[in-house]
Amino acid sequence: MRRLTKRSLLIVTVAVLVIVGVSAWSSLSREIPQPGWITAEQRSNFLYGSVGAERDAGIPYWIWLALPRMFPEYLPGNGGYVSLGFSWEEGKEMPAGFSKKTVGYVRVAGNCAFCHAASFRAGPDEGPEVVPSVPGRATDGQEVLTFFRQCAQDPRFNASEIMVEINTATKLSFVDSLLYRYVLIPRTRRKLLSQDLVMTDSALQQHSRDPYSDAPFSQPQLQALAVWVKGLKVPPYPLEWDRALVEVGKPLFAQHCGSCHAPDGKQTRTLIPIAEIGTDRELANTKKTSGYVAEPLDGTWMRGPYLHNGSVPTVGDLLRPPAQRPATFYRGNNLLNSHDIGFVSDLAQEKGLHFVFFDTRLPGNSNAGHPYGTDLSDQDKKAIIEYLKTL
Ligand code: HEC
Ligand code: HEC
Repeated sequence: MRRLTKRSLLIVTVAVLVIVGVSAWSSLSREIPQPGWITAEQRSNFLYGSVGAERDAGIPYWIWLALPRMFPEYLPGNGGYVSLGFSWEEGKEMPAGFSKKTVGYVRVAGNCAFCHAASFRAGPDEGPEVVPSVPGRATDGQEVLTFFRQCAQDPRFNASEIMVEINTATKLSFVDSLLYRYVLIPRTRRKLLSQDLVMTDSALQQHSRDPYSDAPFSQPQLQALAVWVKGLKVPPYPLEWDRALVEVGKPLFAQHCGSCHAPDGKQTRTLIPIAEIGTDRELANTKKTSGYVAEPLDGTWMRGPYLHNGSVPTVGDLLRPPAQRPATFYRGNNLLNSHDIGFVSDLAQEKGLHFVFFDTRLPGNSNAGHPYGTDLSDQDKKAIIEYLKTL
């Protein structure tokens, strides 16, 4: 009898350990593939698909969802992640650039579109179009990282208060509540404070530090995404343009701009020394390069504001002498400026979204340099702008 009890105790203990082990493993590491609508098609893969970053980086989904609701004061506007410049396509669960995937628990991490997506609206009442876009002005996600750090520094970032917010959005299982309260919330807070591996893992970080390296992505999946996105055609300019003026602009562009920017908008990337181009030096100094690259000008209409530091709102402004370019303006509105190439930049806010005030007099923000074409007649400038719309 006694032996039997001992034995059954042993069996029960082993069984309990197995159950605890399996549920711990499944709470922490079991992978569930993303839904087919994401993975079946490369565009949605690029915008919403996981590139595996959530294994080392990323944030538990319910915390990711709770933060903009709990800490709107650290966001530039009341649009949640949209106010940080991310695009939310109508009907999608996540903004472009964030992947949602279950690895044990549901996690959110950055993907290619975290740095490589542009969006535009052709008119004030039209929805945003999101365009996977490389190379362009890759955002570095710095604003979202700063937002996360400010949240984590706030005393309200603690298990009790975050659990209250999570409970208004969902009913977590008992095990998940324990997991969030005792493991995920404290761990996420440390991660956000250290700002290490927050949204991107080491492969993506390596790429963003050295994007043109010869050994780009080692994983075939990332390599395939890179090949796919490089092969994309820029969508045609969505507003009207004047065909006759385009014909006037084409030879003017070749004459005044073609030595650095190839006439078809594509071309190799020519590095122009800083002394010659004369634009803001800070980035060249930190990256220890001797100048800036004349990027291909295809799709210029969706890449504003211009220059490497985004210091000039429109191409029309770039074609003015530096002293006549806007000293301050607002960035982040994705409404196309219909009189020029670029986005609307004179509104501080629209429909509850606040745009980011940009002051070209601050360090790193200079709008000087790139004097090419500034002495042309207004008519010639208009013609060059018209031609650029077609690239
Ligand atoms: C953390 C930001 C970041 C992430 C995430 C990121 N990139 Fe980039 N990528 C950059 C930067 C910065 C450049 C430099 C060019 C630019 O400013 O657009 C770049 C350039 C590129 C280029 C142009 C270089 C070339 O070889 O022509 C490609 C292609 C590219 N990225 C693909 C990808 C793909 C695919 C992913 C996802 C697997 C990805 N990137 C994720 C920051 C990022
Ligand atoms: C001597 C070489 C050179 C000439 C000539 C030149 N550019 Fe540029 N261009 C550059 C370089 C280099 C940059 C990048 C500078 C930077 O980012 O600081 C640039 C940037 C630009 C940009 C911004 C691109 C972006 O995505 O931010 C536009 C638009 C542009 N040039 C248009 C023109 C036009 C139009 C002309 C002719 C009137 C012209 N350029 C003539 C070298 C040149």
